[in-house]
Amino acid sequence: MVTRSVLVLQACGFILASVFGSQSASGSTGAAPPKPSVRCRCAGYPTQTLCLWSEPGGQATSTHYIATYRERKERAVVKDCLLVPPGSPSSPLKSSSSSEKLWLCQLDDLKLYTDYILNVTSVSPLANTTQLASFMVEDIVKPDPPVEVKVSPVGGLRKLAVEWAPPLTWSNLDIFPLKYQLRYSWSHRHGNHTMHLGPYESTRVVLGALARGRTYLIQVCAMELLGLGECSDWSSPVETMLTARRH
Ligand SMILES: *[C@@H]1O[C@H](CO)[C@@H](O)[C@H](O)[C@H]1NC(C)=O
Ligand SMILES: *[C@@H]1O[C@H](CO)[C@@H](O)[C@H](O)[C@H]1NC(C)=O
Ligand SMILES: *[C@@H]1O[C@H](CO)[C@@H](O)[C@H](O)[C@H]1NC(C)=O
Repeated sequence: MVTRSVLVLQACGFILASVFGSQSASGSTGAAPPKPSVRCRCAGYPTQTLCLWSEPGGQATSTHYIATYRERKERAVVKDCLLVPPGSPSSPLKSSSSSEKLWLCQLDDLKLYTDYILNVTSVSPLANTTQLASFMVEDIVKPDPPVEVKVSPVGGLRKLAVEWAPPLTWSNLDIFPLKYQLRYSWSHRHGNHTMHLGPYESTRVVLGALARGRTYLIQVCAMELLGLGECSDWSSPVETMLTARRH
């Protein structure tokens, strides 16, 4: 029996689609391998959807995975989710510094506004374990952060121009535009201050009323224009100090 427990977690910047159940697929009484915790994310609406899970550490296993997906309403049409093992050269993941081994699979040709069910079954000599995840692409949209964030002073004024470029993985920019949010922070005797600005549809913003001699950390995130899913992770901070004196 599949129990329904809808949860939305965020881990490693990936959304765990609503996991609506999981069960052990074998009758074995031996120690079953831990269930893979599957997270799915669409970094380029609507075509770039990946699901990933980490291989349980510890036990040296001969575990392999079967990953399939189907529309919730179409039980008969089951497609293979293309598996990419950890460390594979074709992996779109940046090599993470952690020892975590991430498996992922790529889903093709997803329809818009359609419920899907992903089935990740780990097969090992001891036991097979199935994890199911349910999602609609629109709910798991999360772009990669904007790139090429550049900050430059504007004239001799207490202003900074911030420019950036959209993430390259967002491949349908003309059909599905992005909007952006900006935050900048500075430290103060009593702690940090952060300002949030936006959303902007442009890729250039001028910040005003800044203080001379103060160091600012500036970051940008990208979100689908109509607000599908969530904003990307923040870009890595660009540090800028407004010079203390006018020339
Ligand atoms: C999940 O996939 C496994 C392996 O293909 C299969 O045996 C199992 O029946 C599937 N479970 C569901 C609920 O679709
Ligand atoms: C796990 O699944 C594989 C392939 O579907 C099957 O051959 C094997 O017998 C299963 N193992 C157990 C322990 O149920
Ligand atoms: C804000 O505080 C954190 C630690 O609490 C620090 O690492 C960071 O550099 C501070 N930000 C600024 C703009 O100073």
